[in-house]
Amino acid sequence: MSALFEPAKIGNIEVKNRFIRSATYFGLADENGFVGEPSVKLIKTLAQNEVGLIITGNAYVLKSGQRFPNANLIDTDDHIPGFKKMTQSVHEAEGRVVMQIGHNGVQSKLAAQSGEDYLAVSMTDKLPDFGRKPREMQEDDIANIIDAFGQAARRAREAGFDGVQIHGAHGYLVDQFLSPFTNKRTDRWGGSLKNRLRFVLEVTRAIKKEAGGDFPAMIKLGCKDYFDDGGGLTIEEGARTAKALEGEGICLVEISFGNMDPKLRKIFMGITSPEKEAVFLPEARAIRAVSSVPIALVTGMRSLPVMEELIGSGVTDFISLCRPLIREPDLIKRWKEGDTRPADCISCPDPSHAAPYGCFNLDENGKIVIFCRQLRRKGNPE
Ligand SMILES: Cc1cc2nc3c(=O)[nH]c(=O)nc-3n(C[C@H](O)[C@H](O)[C@H](O)COP(=O)(O)O)c2cc1C
Repeated sequence: MSALFEPAKIGNIEVKNRFIRSATYFGLADENGFVGEPSVKLIKTLAQNEVGLIITGNAYVLKSGQRFPNANLIDTDDHIPGFKKMTQSVHEAEGRVVMQIGHNGVQSKLAAQSGEDYLAVSMTDKLPDFGRKPREMQEDDIANIIDAFGQAARRAREAGFDGVQIHGAHGYLVDQFLSPFTNKRTDRWGGSLKNRLRFVLEVTRAIKKEAGGDFPAMIKLGCKDYFDDGGGLTIEEGARTAKALEGEGICLVEISFGNMDPKLRKIFMGITSPEKEAVFLPEARAIRAVSSVPIALVTGMRSLPVMEELIGSGVTDFISLCRPLIREPDLIKRWKEGDTRPADCISCPDPSHAAPYGCFNLDENGKIVIFCRQLRRKGNPE
């Protein structure tokens, strides 16, 4: 059998195969961030269809970190019972499920517009325009957010999750601290890489303290910023960050991007041939070269031979998929049962660039509306 379908371990979690569903926000929570039947049904469907490890859409650890409406919140214990139903349904299907936890810092559009505390790592001249200026974080703000990550992990454990994943990619707060583009601080949280990565190290320690040292903690890491004119976090710094996190007991690094120039979003799109897959392979190699932390590769993974080659060569341990599982929630089962055609999803471009991916758009309230334009490929490997 293909190595892709062999069981493996992530920290102390036993997973049935090498496939991970990368965190995907669907906007299915209610307006107060509570998950209900629609979220449970979605996650359960993935578990019943052979996804080895499911990572939930990002759950905000505080309302001050919220960008999108109808997103999962995990800022109080009241959210535990709803999530319990989700974890129970996954475990009944012999799946594994991890909660992604995050804070969006200066990108917290909903927080800015709804009068919540709205915070920036630094007051740079490139702040987003959400109709209100953020406030620069003080020591107690930073301590409060770090503690909120710890409490969120404790709640995730109490709700029956198999672990947590820190959202440390895509210009979220962890990234905002890591990147010299957004972090211009001159205190112990800014300047050298040692100072810029202090925040994510402290977040990891808070998770271990509150949820227990044995509770698996993972990260989706923005290993590098992608700006047209260069600048921002370099891959050398991203790799050093991954190594430092390995030292703190992080048991899986999912490799993704940090801050990004909107113009460069096209690197995610039009994955129509094997050569275009594995978008962040160079970044995976750079991390592999300095650290033995288990790796999951996400973005543009679409066909089995490419995945087998990547696992076989040892450059990654797991394959993460997001958009292919929006289009085909039963994709892994289909592959397991012998229909080995590539994923239908070709990451179709969104010409409006209203949203970073072609499979959703935002409605007038900023709420995500999932759709999928791609016609079924009918066996054509292209
Ligand atoms: C609808 C949608 C929602 C997403 N939500 C999240 C999220 O909550 N957290 C996250 O880290 N990434 C999120 N992503 C990014 C994906 O997890 C993934 O990194 C990206 O789509 C590239 O992988 P793919 O080529 O397999 O789609 C989202 C992507 C899409 C299309």
